[in-house]
Amino acid sequence: MFLNASGCLDALTAPDVARSLDGFVTKTVTPEARAGNAPVRIAETDFGMVNAIGLANPGRDAFVADTLPRLRSLGVPLWVSVGGFSAHDYAATCAVLDDVTIELNLSCPNVDEAPESAAEIVRACREATSSTLYAKVSPHSWDMGETARAIEAAGADGISMINTLKGVTLDATLRPALARGAGGYSGPALRPVALAAVMAARRATDLPIVGMGGVETGRHALDLIACGATQVALGTVLFADPDAPSRIRAELEQELSAHGFDTPADAFCAALKTVASLENSRKR
Ligand SMILES: Cc1cc2nc3c(=O)[nH]c(=O)nc-3n(C[C@H](O)[C@H](O)[C@H](O)COP(=O)(O)O)c2cc1C
Repeated sequence: MFLNASGCLDALTAPDVARSLDGFVTKTVTPEARAGNAPVRIAETDFGMVNAIGLANPGRDAFVADTLPRLRSLGVPLWVSVGGFSAHDYAATCAVLDDVTIELNLSCPNVDEAPESAAEIVRACREATSSTLYAKVSPHSWDMGETARAIEAAGADGISMINTLKGVTLDATLRPALARGAGGYSGPALRPVALAAVMAARRATDLPIVGMGGVETGRHALDLIACGATQVALGTVLFADPDAPSRIRAELEQELSAHGFDTPADAFCAALKTVASLENSRKR
């Protein structure tokens, strides 16, 4: 099952791309409207890009009144990415959303410094909604297994991973290319980081996992599934190739049969099983 990564597709300007996915994930919605950061907000690097969009969005009320009805008319299952600066912010937005899957963006700027932990935010949201609740985590945690267990114990129905890594790129005059200096680094270089995160989380939990980070081909999607992802999200690749969803879907089919699998479910955790059998043979 393919989704877009939050912030990497505007379904209202590219409805056909959204319809080529199994679900559309919105840009993160915050309680108040945000204009986002001053330009330059996106810069290319040798491998991928850095962005500091600053969570530009119309704010919760305008999103619910105006954007959400228009998104519903697309006929694609909707995932709403929810952000905030405290557990109360997140929970208040969850409380006004119905008939959508909610993805909590737990890697919002300032949230890392919020008094509440990721698990506390998930717990507050669980109390506020009965909608399906995914928690999207930052790759900056060293122990992704522990993060996954804490999120599951707090009541999440699934985990999305990974968000961007913090990155800086310089222009020819040695100034940071982004006006803010640092930004979120996305694209191909994230692939090994995403695979490690998914593998660690899968060893810790049976929850569904949306894997993302640098997916550009069917083989990359298969890698995430083999490490334990149940769904795959496409991010940076959509900026260069809006046809990526159908292309990657077809490539995944070819990759599956080349590896002797009939369905993605047959390839699920294939890499993890190799690791487990290596560990067992070492113990013997
Ligand atoms: C321009 C841009 C904007 C993004 N905005 C958001 C966002 O609003 N909320 C969020 O959770 N992730 C956001 N992300 C992160 C992506 O959803 C994804 O986690 C990350 O880019 C890794 O996947 P990729 O390497 O395939 O792009 C954004 C990424 C990019 C490149």
